[in-house]
Amino acid sequence: MQVGLLGLGTVGSGTVEVLRRNREEIARRAGRDIVVKAASARDLKKKRAVSLDGIELVADPAAIIARPDIDIVVELIGGDTIARELVLKAIAAGKHVVTANKALLAKHGTEIFLAAQKKGVMVAFEGAVAGGIPIIKAIREGLTANRIEWIAGIINGTCNYILSEMRDKGLPFDMVLAEAQRLGYAEADPAFDIEGIDAAHKLTILAAIAFGIPMQFDKAYVEGITRLTAIDIKYAEGLGYRIKLLGIAKRTDKGIELRVHPTLVPSRRLIANVEGVMNAVLVKGDAVGPTLFYGRGAGSEPTASAVVADLVDVTRMATADPEHRVPHLAFRPDRLSDVPILPM
Ligand code: NDP
Ligand code: HSE
Repeated sequence: MQVGLLGLGTVGSGTVEVLRRNREEIARRAGRDIVVKAASARDLKKKRAVSLDGIELVADPAAIIARPDIDIVVELIGGDTIARELVLKAIAAGKHVVTANKALLAKHGTEIFLAAQKKGVMVAFEGAVAGGIPIIKAIREGLTANRIEWIAGIINGTCNYILSEMRDKGLPFDMVLAEAQRLGYAEADPAFDIEGIDAAHKLTILAAIAFGIPMQFDKAYVEGITRLTAIDIKYAEGLGYRIKLLGIAKRTDKGIELRVHPTLVPSRRLIANVEGVMNAVLVKGDAVGPTLFYGRGAGSEPTASAVVADLVDVTRMATADPEHRVPHLAFRPDRLSDVPILPM
């Protein structure tokens, strides 16, 4: 399978590295060699974190989509303007798409999945939610027998890192945020992290998959961590709680609650002890009961782990009957429920 990579930043570089380092094992598991043929970036002179030997580097991402030798387009640019155009262009050109772009899917997911379904190509997006944790696959496959009742999770690594460092080391908010940016955890515009928007993008995607509803980011209640101070964290601690930015999606008799906000979690709970860049997602199914998924929620290789898993999935499915293309079926735009999201 020949891959065209749009974006060579934190996640793009990690994807090149993981594919190269584990090439033989990945080829065995996928049934075919998966190779990055071409990659795009804005600044072709920038020094990259990985060797680009054997990869054709171009400035224009659309030129990669136009190439007939590219089977899968991996979108790792971010944002929902140029990324939307490129993903729709790739689908129209009959390419399968892998993306880690939650902003794009939370806002334009339904349009993108409809276009993909019409064209008979797959769109896979494991890296879009909770970094390296295979939460999309878990809900789609492992929990598929269940009626999902609720999901609650720490789904922004930057915020969890900030809250942990403020509590443990007494470091100031701005200093920890700068470190999260340096480590490649934060979004290009970190306001998306600290205002809760990134967590709401991810929650929108999780809710759509778990409840079979359209992606409706605009209906989520969103509150970030910018108004929290060291004093809040200290008082919470004294009362036996930790403050966590949670994303919560919950079925009720009247509809679905979709909300992101700082939450007091009793210190004895597992989720209260999820520290640093780690994420954790609790999913409650009617048959299985509560389940907990834990791992690195951001960063180069943890996210690349999910992106490459999607590449393997897409490679495995590319020769299968379209009706059985599992990554595509993660979100069925033609079979959505109209259960409302409740105003909060
Ligand atoms: P980066 O900012 O590190 O990389 C973005 C890449 O896209 C860069 O190579 C950049 O080029 C290129 N690029 C940016 N703007 C344009 C443009 N207008 N036209 C063409 N190319 C452009 O982002 P990340 O790797 O961190 O994130 C990529 C995606 O993955 C985003 O959607 C993000 O939300 C998502 N994600 C990120 C995670 C993380 O931990 N960082 C985790 C999970 C998902 P150049 O390098 O020359 O500037
Ligand atoms: N900025 C995001 C975070 C990246 O900190 O969780 C992973 O999606």
